[in-house]
Amino acid sequence: MTSEPDLTDLSPEQRAALGSGADFWTTKAIGPVISVTMTDGPHGVRRQAGATDHLGLAASLPATCFPPAVGLAQSWDAQLVRRVGAALGREARALDVDVLLGPGVNIKRDPRGGRNFEYYSEDPLLTGLLGAAWVTGVQGTGVGASLKHFAANNAEHDRMRSSSDVDPRPLREIYLRAFAHIVRTARPWTVMCSYNRINGVPAAQNRWLLTDVLRGEWGFDGAVISDWGAVADRPAAVTAGLDLEMPGGTGISDARVVAEMASGTLDPADVDRAARNVATLAARVAAGREQDETRYTADEHHRLAREVAARCVVLLRNHRGLLPLAPGRSVAVIGEFAVEPRYQGGGSSHVTPTRLDVPLDEIRALAGAGTVSYSPGFTTNRTDTDHDALRADAVAAARDADVAILFLGSAAAQESEGFDREHLELPGEQLELLDAVVRAQPDTVVVLAHGGVVRLAPVAALAPAILDGGLLGQAGGGALADVLFGVVNPSGRLAETVPMRLQDTPAYLNFPGEHSHVRYGEGLYVGYRWYDSRDMDVCYPFGHGLSYTTFDYSDLTLEADEAGITVRVGITNTGSRAGREVVQVYTTLPGSPVARPARELKGVAVTAELEPGAREEVSLLLPRDDLACWDTRVDRWVVEGGAYQVWAGASSRDLRATASIDVAGDELRIPITAESTLGEALADPKAAAALAEVFGGMSASMGDATALGVDMMRMIASIPLDRLTGFGVDPERLDALLAAADD
Ligand code: BGC
Repeated sequence: MTSEPDLTDLSPEQRAALGSGADFWTTKAIGPVISVTMTDGPHGVRRQAGATDHLGLAASLPATCFPPAVGLAQSWDAQLVRRVGAALGREARALDVDVLLGPGVNIKRDPRGGRNFEYYSEDPLLTGLLGAAWVTGVQGTGVGASLKHFAANNAEHDRMRSSSDVDPRPLREIYLRAFAHIVRTARPWTVMCSYNRINGVPAAQNRWLLTDVLRGEWGFDGAVISDWGAVADRPAAVTAGLDLEMPGGTGISDARVVAEMASGTLDPADVDRAARNVATLAARVAAGREQDETRYTADEHHRLAREVAARCVVLLRNHRGLLPLAPGRSVAVIGEFAVEPRYQGGGSSHVTPTRLDVPLDEIRALAGAGTVSYSPGFTTNRTDTDHDALRADAVAAARDADVAILFLGSAAAQESEGFDREHLELPGEQLELLDAVVRAQPDTVVVLAHGGVVRLAPVAALAPAILDGGLLGQAGGGALADVLFGVVNPSGRLAETVPMRLQDTPAYLNFPGEHSHVRYGEGLYVGYRWYDSRDMDVCYPFGHGLSYTTFDYSDLTLEADEAGITVRVGITNTGSRAGREVVQVYTTLPGSPVARPARELKGVAVTAELEPGAREEVSLLLPRDDLACWDTRVDRWVVEGGAYQVWAGASSRDLRATASIDVAGDELRIPITAESTLGEALADPKAAAALAEVFGGMSASMGDATALGVDMMRMIASIPLDRLTGFGVDPERLDALLAAADD
């Protein structure tokens, strides 16, 4: 049990001082409150030794570089992510770090988003499950998490000013949903507010966001900290619910807080609340340090990083069963990334790995007696290169071997925090190389490395086999070799759709906005919600990923109760290799009067590794809360009643079993007012009864009227009640109706 420091002896100046950092990474020790050390980041501990540069981007001490979120999410496996979280926590503790600045759980609204490699998915349910597992894993070791970037921070362009202009339903159902799930189920010690504005109000000064929603609705009991440099007006931020401004050390905003308390424009109670929340964080940290979770070796964590990375590899295509490769065949490895792997993105999450697997070496280690040649084929980091000569060498090597493995991807300099990408294209010379290599060697496997989605239509048209690693961290080289040679049967799944082209993407016309405003015009239709609702062709759908074996789905059953819908489905390994299936459950409510995507992910289960012929009955609960939509008429979540369609499948486009089930709706009565329509009044039992009484059978007679050759009731149903007076209805009778309906 954490005991909170007693702050009664602190002066107003000291209370104000607790609300900003001591320097770039630490908070102040004042009175009974100890100093807390924080650092990035989500896929490795970026602990800087000694003094930091003013942006905190200088080199850091070695730490295991696990797969960044873009790779990790492809595991779809919360248990695995939890193990990564625990390992990160142990490393943080060993490096004297108290709070790790992650996870980043913003939704990948547009594939150009510059920090997409730090985020999990285009889907809030998957993001929430994985983010909660990360927080639980880290905090289980006594190290705090910082859930970021709260909220609607979905692009880098103009990120410190830009307003994300989002309607209430997408804001709640897409952009806040993962945050809500993680706050409620994993209870992070801190939440980091983002740089941007939300509907015009800076996140750091957004009382609705930081207080009404985060604390009021979700019950957050930790400290709200700012993203580094996100606070423009500290007194306004403290009033809104910010507890800790980071970084700190100048004392300027502390003085402003003290001055505004003295002048009466800042309520001292808000400053006290902030100081208390920082003190509670410090108390949690003190208790966490006692746990002393530091037992691990760099070797163990490297092995874990390899196991995890292998689970994140997605087999996009495997024509003619080209993969896995049998050891003993001669292999031509081509592509600069085979020797200089791309394994993480740029910016504040960049870590110094403890070691780095080189894919070429790892392929050599598993290739058995087969010879392995290497040719770069292209380069991303030199301009003075003769591309034709590089290509000619690679083509010759491919021709001489039994199989070619071609490493392609986006250059490191294209993908970083701080700016968005301008396109989704692989470099032209890489595509030319692919074309030439495949002509020389039909058995060519493409291995992809990238932080953001790349357009794959040209690759899919040429390469018989494609492995997609996203970014896999320091052990990605070994993990890729494991999958290439079948040591691991791939079970990774895409956490974002690969569209046919940039112009097809949902936010194409609304990204990155103009004059510091981004209109989220696609509303709820983000990622597969857009492509599937519009039935558009995609290159690879959300959730896609092949295996070296096959799975059969059978005996889908559904049961509904107050907790939600329980889904059971039998998964049988019908192929000849052991493997894991990622079961995805999607739902919709056909005929719903509100806008609904064709289907939405509502549950995920990963089977155990099933031997050939083995069957597992997967059982999972779709929590009732997850079926709810945000009802803008009453500003709350409402589960609509009706027959829900439920699918279990292997991607949003590979639905293997379906059934429907009746779910009782939440009670919801929208008050009947003068602005309600006749149709709404007739649909409301009380108002309908009053209508019948006051107007004496009008509804029945109008329903029957066919004199104009139309369904009269349908024609007049949209007339607001108060307009009826214009058609001769006595205002007094209308008042009587409204009074009776309101009774
Ligand atoms: C980033 C955060 C990061 C912080 C500290 C900011 O620029 O947006 O994600 O945690 O810096 O490095």
